[in-house]
Amino acid sequence: MQLERLLQSQGFGSRKQCGRRIAAGDVRIDGVVCDDPCAEIDSGNSQIEIDGVIWRYREKVYVAMHKPAGYECTHHARCYPSVYTLLPEPLVSRAVQTVGRLDADTTGLLLFSDDGHFIHALTSPRRHITKGYRVILKHDVDDCFVRRMANGVLLRDETSAIKPLSVTLTDAKTLLLEIDQGKFHQVKRMVAAAGNRVAVLHRLAMGGLSLAGDLLLEEGEWRYLESAHLDRLGYNV
Ligand code: URA
Repeated sequence: MQLERLLQSQGFGSRKQCGRRIAAGDVRIDGVVCDDPCAEIDSGNSQIEIDGVIWRYREKVYVAMHKPAGYECTHHARCYPSVYTLLPEPLVSRAVQTVGRLDADTTGLLLFSDDGHFIHALTSPRRHITKGYRVILKHDVDDCFVRRMANGVLLRDETSAIKPLSVTLTDAKTLLLEIDQGKFHQVKRMVAAAGNRVAVLHRLAMGGLSLAGDLLLEEGEWRYLESAHLDRLGYNV
């Protein structure tokens, strides 16, 4: 692939902007400056360095973030900064999108990609991807509340009760909840329908991919997902 096209595909600006950076000597291939925008590069096997930072060519990107509280999952955030401000510019420029959304006050596992097929596969209601949450409740509960949740709760605008896949009480205020739908504010609405309020919400896992077990990300950190992670999500590239 031509070097300027390669940089453009990776989010480093328009073809013209990439050409200028290459001609200015900002780009090294396998450790050697390459100032020819039209040089043919083996995208899969070359080491690409831009302004001293090594980038691996990726045809599509798959990213996991440990979302902190106080960030909105939109590009044009209104009350809080956008989660996209936590990603490097080239990823934003190549138009990665969040895979579903978390509320501004929710923390935990958030995925991004520029692969529309992947986003659809993980968010389609027909695929029933499991989402695991830790829910800290406002008021103490007992087994009766857990049974109410487990039996299913009727949400406004729904015609049938929504049942979690599992619900476990770990102390008087903490629930572990697994759901396989992705309705708007679903966890908060389910808890409200069962007679309580969510104080703190954290997404622990999606499919078989767990934030603590597989990704080891601190709040605000992100990383690329590799094929083993995609396997855990049941997705084959
Ligand atoms: N359910 C909610 O209510 N909020 C979230 O952020 C995620 C799931």
